[in-house]
Amino acid sequence: MRVLGIETSCDETGIAIYDSQAGILADALYSQVELHAEYGGVVPELASRDHVRKVIPLIKEVMSRAGCQPGDLDAVVYTAGPGLVGALLVGAAVAKSLAYAWGVPSFPVHHMEGHLLAPMLEDPAPTAPFVALLVSGGHTMLVSVKAIGDYEILGESLDDAAGEAFDKTAKMLGLGYPGGPRLAARAEQGNPQRFRFPRPMTDRPGLDFSFSGLKTFCLNTRDECERSPTGLSEQDVSDICWAFQDAVVETLAIKCRRALQHTGVKQLVVAGGVSANLHLRARLQEVAAKLRAQVFYPQLKYCTDNGAMIAFAGYQRLLAGAKTDLAVRARARWPLSELNGQDQADSSRVDQDSRPA
Ligand code: KG4
Ligand code: ZN
Repeated sequence: MRVLGIETSCDETGIAIYDSQAGILADALYSQVELHAEYGGVVPELASRDHVRKVIPLIKEVMSRAGCQPGDLDAVVYTAGPGLVGALLVGAAVAKSLAYAWGVPSFPVHHMEGHLLAPMLEDPAPTAPFVALLVSGGHTMLVSVKAIGDYEILGESLDDAAGEAFDKTAKMLGLGYPGGPRLAARAEQGNPQRFRFPRPMTDRPGLDFSFSGLKTFCLNTRDECERSPTGLSEQDVSDICWAFQDAVVETLAIKCRRALQHTGVKQLVVAGGVSANLHLRARLQEVAAKLRAQVFYPQLKYCTDNGAMIAFAGYQRLLAGAKTDLAVRARARWPLSELNGQDQADSSRVDQDSRPA
């Protein structure tokens, strides 16, 4: 079976074709980073317009690189949420139109399920049951995956997502957009002995997260440095970056250890944009080794938003017998837990929330 996947939930247009025998046949990604950089963050209306410009040329490119004709496809799937509604609608409308014209079914895919299943595109792949740490710009959650489509949220962020905290802290330190990778790069030059930031919510039981206080801690430290006789130096910024990254990574590591102990499973899947962070990868490796558990990541290009994870998650829905209809679905907010035991395409709930959030 072959599935064309379309991702347009935020600032990346991602297209891919997944083949159930050969894996990803071709994929393409267009990042809007430069477009949004001068505004210091994603401008939703600009994002939608840029998706309109790019989505069809990228589909043509991927179809041609995969050597695929429309008749070779079994489904067209698209990210239906969570995300920016205007951006989601571009992918959804294109997917539905192509599927209708080509006479194949089309399904909505949950963006976070895409991230969650992305490590399954690798070899070796994790097999359920496993625990997943999803760390992206919009979400931070620990999920117990009993089977594909059977998800129990063990904990999540009560305020900022980890990636969001990286982005906001980077902005506050004048590092620009996109913040996460820039902050991580600056942390490399930081002095580990200089500052120690708190590990939020690790001194009490439970698997929830909170990162907004850490951001304020950075702000106060920056202001203190600014008030010093020498002002805020380049080294101060690097040192704050190191302490911030270390605090986020250590907090995530402590909660992952707890989640593995709590569930007793021996496989940890880490996905979403922040899973590209090398410091996080190294730390989780240590945690897992101590528990004789294995850690699985997507390859770097599939950590951040991409079409491959959507094509693969859509293929799983196809296997699960999802039915198609003509509704164009886009949902700004969409809890992952609503997927449980549900045929997404049949779900009337997907449409209820389709107005802009
Ligand atoms: O999964 P993703 O591409 O988009 C969402 O679904 O949100 O994640 C993007 C997030 C951004 O917040 C970005 O700053 C963060 O992932 N990110 C990183 C790194 N690379 C991307 N954060 C820390 N270290 C990195 N190396
Ligand atoms: Zn994402």
